[in-house]
Amino acid sequence: MIKTVFFVFLLAGSVMLLGCDMPDSEQVQQRQHLPGSDFVADPQRGDALFHAHCARCHGGKGTGTDLGPPLVHQVYRPGHHADLTFHWAVKDGVKQHHWHFGDMPPIADVSPQQVGHIIAYVRREQRKVDIR
Ligand code: HEC
Repeated sequence: MIKTVFFVFLLAGSVMLLGCDMPDSEQVQQRQHLPGSDFVADPQRGDALFHAHCARCHGGKGTGTDLGPPLVHQVYRPGHHADLTFHWAVKDGVKQHHWHFGDMPPIADVSPQQVGHIIAYVRREQRKVDIR
């Protein structure tokens, strides 16, 4: 009898575990605000997206305004601010720490894929002035 009860508990436990929805790697990427593994960044689309969502503060060509710093700047070279920091900046915002423009707010309506395109655009503009 005890054995049967134990067995039923064990069975119920396993069913509950199986029922948990295990996130696949795509879902993890989405949750971390990253595009999926098959994503291909397009700097041309990034150009338009940057101008729609970021240029207000970071300037027309990423050269800064009085509301935000230039992103085409040595401080944001890939080795110092990796692509991940762009994804986090858009998702969570940025506390003022490098400059004196105040905080960057989270930018809610920009998807991980769109950030990927924006990064490709910013990196292209950086390479044009030899920021690598
Ligand atoms: C309302 C103004 C504003 C907008 C809009 C804005 N930013 Fe920012 N952003 C800032 C400011 C200000 C900082 C500098 C914070 C500091 O380091 O002092 C910043 C910093 C950053 C950084 C550096 C993050 C770090 O880790 O230091 C990145 C990357 C960035 N912004 C990307 C973007 C992108 C991409 C967009 C558009 C999707 C965007 N920002 C839109 C104001 C803005």
